[in-house]
Order: sequence, then C-alpha cells, then structure tokens
Amino acid sequence: MKVLFLNGPNLNLLGTREPEVYGRQTLADIEREVRARALARGIEVDFRQSNHEGELVDWIQQARGSADVLVLNAAAYTHTSVALRDAIVAAAVPAIEIHLSNIHAREEFRHRSLVAPVCRGVICGFGAGSYLLALEAAGMVSA
Ligand code: DQA
Repeated sequence: MKVLFLNGPNLNLLGTREPEVYGRQTLADIEREVRARALARGIEVDFRQSNHEGELVDWIQQARGSADVLVLNAAAYTHTSVALRDAIVAAAVPAIEIHLSNIHAREEFRHRSLVAPVCRGVICGFGAGSYLLALEAAGMVSA
C-alpha cells in the first residue's frame, strides 16, 4: 500500500509557528515518525508540502493510479478551496482529511471544511498523532 501525505500552506513553519496550537515538532520530525511507523507496517509513504494551491491540485491529480490513499492536511485551504475538493473527486483516490489542531474548537471560520464531504473521514486534534492515526486509518480505507 502506498500513502501520499500532502501538507498545505504554512505547515513548513511547524516548530516555530504558534507552538501553543501546533506543538513544537517540525514537519520533518512528523515525517520521520510517520516513516518509522509506516516501515513497521510495510506501508510506502510519499510526504510533501506546498504553500501553493495549484501545486497541491497537481499532486492530487497525480495520485490517481500512483497512490492507494491520500492523507491531506490542506491547512488554510481546507476552509476555502473548491479546487482541492474538485481534485479529490476527480482523482477518485480515497482521501483522509487531517489537522493537528481541533478545528471545531477554534475560530468559527475553521469549523467549515470544503474537503471533508469528499473525504472518507476526518482526524483532527491529536497534534502529530493525527498523522499517525491517519496511517492506521489508511489501512482501513484502502481495502
Ligand atoms: C490546520 C488547521 C487549519 O485551520 C490551519 O489553517 C492550519 C493548520 C491544522 O493542522 O490544525 O494551517 O490544518
């Protein structure tokens, strides 16, 4: 099984960005944990980040035929992007939406996700643990 993890805008700043909300781990730290867990499970991982909506769209399109499951932390684009939502539908790869923070416990504009309705499920609020939980969930949706 191959799982594509995509990370959206500002997640390259993890570690120093609002650590009280997102924790002190960098995205590279999280990637390392995901890769270690994936190795133990025999799962292949591709892990990317972009600040650019169009690049994320390109990567979601390319997931068709090359990934079994897409795990997406679309960051702020979660709340705004029809393009990402349409790309997930077009790619027809099972997708899991994730967030470090519990978006429902935060500002109202974060409560709405445009991508959640086209994902198989949503995991949020567990910090870096959301990524590890997504890896477990990937095994459940790819079957
Ligand atoms: C986030 C939550 C989003 O609302 C926010 O814009 C982010 C990070 C999270 O992982 O908690 O950039 O996706």
